[in-house]
Amino acid sequence: MRILLCGGAGYIGAHTYVVLVERGHDVVVADNFSNSSPGVLARLRQITGRPVPFQPLDLRDRDAVTGFFAHQAFDAVVHFAALKSVGESCERPLDYFHNNIGGTLNLLHGMREAGVDRLVFSSSATVYGDPERVPVREDARLQVTNPYGRTKLVMEELIGDLCRSDAGFHAANLRYFNPVGAHASGLIGEDPTGIPNNLMPYICQVAVGRRDRLSVYGADWPTVDGTGVRDYIHVMDLARAHADALDFLVRERRSLTVNLGTGQGVSVLQLVEAFAQAAARRIPYQVVARRPGDVAEVYADPSLAERTLGWRAELGIEAMCRDAWRWQSQNPQGYPMA
Ligand code: NAD
Ligand code: UD1
Repeated sequence: MRILLCGGAGYIGAHTYVVLVERGHDVVVADNFSNSSPGVLARLRQITGRPVPFQPLDLRDRDAVTGFFAHQAFDAVVHFAALKSVGESCERPLDYFHNNIGGTLNLLHGMREAGVDRLVFSSSATVYGDPERVPVREDARLQVTNPYGRTKLVMEELIGDLCRSDAGFHAANLRYFNPVGAHASGLIGEDPTGIPNNLMPYICQVAVGRRDRLSVYGADWPTVDGTGVRDYIHVMDLARAHADALDFLVRERRSLTVNLGTGQGVSVLQLVEAFAQAAARRIPYQVVARRPGDVAEVYADPSLAERTLGWRAELGIEAMCRDAWRWQSQNPQGYPMA
């Protein structure tokens, strides 16, 4: 298939690019580099051994999006492009609505005009908010607690409306749990700008000496050791799920919404310990107050993905830590400037 990856220069998009090329697809990356670096393209070329077709594109520019689709033929789009910081979304909600929801509307419009009728969409476990029970199934109550989460929920809903309005348009909403890790080459990985919000990149930066110590947000949660429990999933397993979802859309000609997680909950301290083992170094930490808006425990019931896509996570927490550390230790400051 000829596939467009919107936001394909980002963390999950770049890893998915590698898997799709390995499966023989013809893949084009489009991005505005608002949260990524052009340096990733050279790395993708190094991994795949061929030039990376790239299109500068800002999804907020409707004319540019429509114009681009008018001159290209695609069998499917994978849509990663979004702003994703919860804290920032509380400070600048309108930017999040404009970029994430407005950008998605422009993309859907461009796809419709060009007759592209398969979409894989990056949704998030954030649509479950504070779930009533774990493991979380796809039919759990949806509730959002911040503007970023709201954009994900609204986008799922408007994609759903489009699918209902047109029997020929099919979408896969993939609800990612907590993506971590990196490609085994250590050439690509997560490269957050500024101070990392999320646990694994923060641990990586402590391990490599860029930060003194990790702050553990609360050790008084009702969990196995008092620290927050999440479902960490290796980004290469996640990338593979996108290829499987594209196959599903072609084969089954219907839409679906699935969780992508391992089904295993891991606490903050368990992740710190696993990382320390993998990197063979101490990770200094201090327990501080809970982070506002956090929840105790979230992990997936991933069985629907297995039944529908034939997909299940294969890589465990050791591989996640080992690969994250390989990336961080080989690239202490992230991607070089292009
Ligand atoms: P990322 O920020 O690394 O990648 C997103 C990419 O989209 C970036 O390269 C950015 O430059 C690009 N982009 C943003 N707005 C754009 C626009 N208007 N036009 C063109 N390009 C634009 O994030 P990621 O971690 O790779 O996440 C990918 C997707 O998965 C996002 O939609 C995110 O909300 C979702 N998601 C991520 C996580 C996570 O923890 N990483 C969890 C759940 C869901
Ligand atoms: C974050 C996002 C959520 C997104 C999810 C998956 C926030 C508030 N929420 O949630 O929208 O869907 O990632 O990408 O950003 N922790 C520490 N110290 C740190 C960082 C985190 O102790 O410096 C703890 C947190 O309290 C939590 C766990 O580590 O218990 C994981 O945190 P994080 O990586 O931010 O992921 P989520 O909280 O799941």
